[in-house]
Amino acid sequence: MFDPLLNAALKAREHAHAPYSKFPVGAALEDSDGRIYTGCNVENASFGLTNCAERTAAFKAVSEGARRFRRIAVAADTTPLTPPCGACRQVLWEICGDIEVILVNPRGETESLHLRDLFPRPFHASLL
Ligand code: THU
Repeated sequence: MFDPLLNAALKAREHAHAPYSKFPVGAALEDSDGRIYTGCNVENASFGLTNCAERTAAFKAVSEGARRFRRIAVAADTTPLTPPCGACRQVLWEICGDIEVILVNPRGETESLHLRDLFPRPFHASLL
C-alpha cells in the first residue's frame, strides 16, 4: 500500500492494548501541514475507560498543537471494514470537522467516506 497514512494506521494497530476484546485498531490523522498523528485502542480492566484508536490519535494531535486536519485512516482486520464508533464520530467532528475518513484492513481493502455522511446531524458547540 503506497499511501503513508494507511500504512501508519496499520502500523499503529500493532501497538494496540486490547487484551479484553482482542480487537486491535489503529488510526492515523493527517493535519493540514501533512504531519501524521497515530493512535491505537487502549483498553482497561474497568472497561468503560477504554480509549478508541481514533480518539487516541485526535487527542495526541491536539495535545501537540495541531488544529487543522485533512484525513484520518482507521485500520482493523475486518471485512466489511470497521468505521469509527459513535463516540469517536462526535469527537472527530468537533476537532477535525468534515474530514475524509479512510477505512483499511491488512489485506489492502479500503473505502473512503466523509465524516458528514457518517455523522449527519451533529451536536455542536454552536447549539450551546
Ligand atoms: N475500537 C476502536 O478503537 N475504534 C473503532 O473504530 C471501533 C472500536 C476499539 C474499542 C475496543 O477497544 C475494541 O475496539 C472493541 O470494541
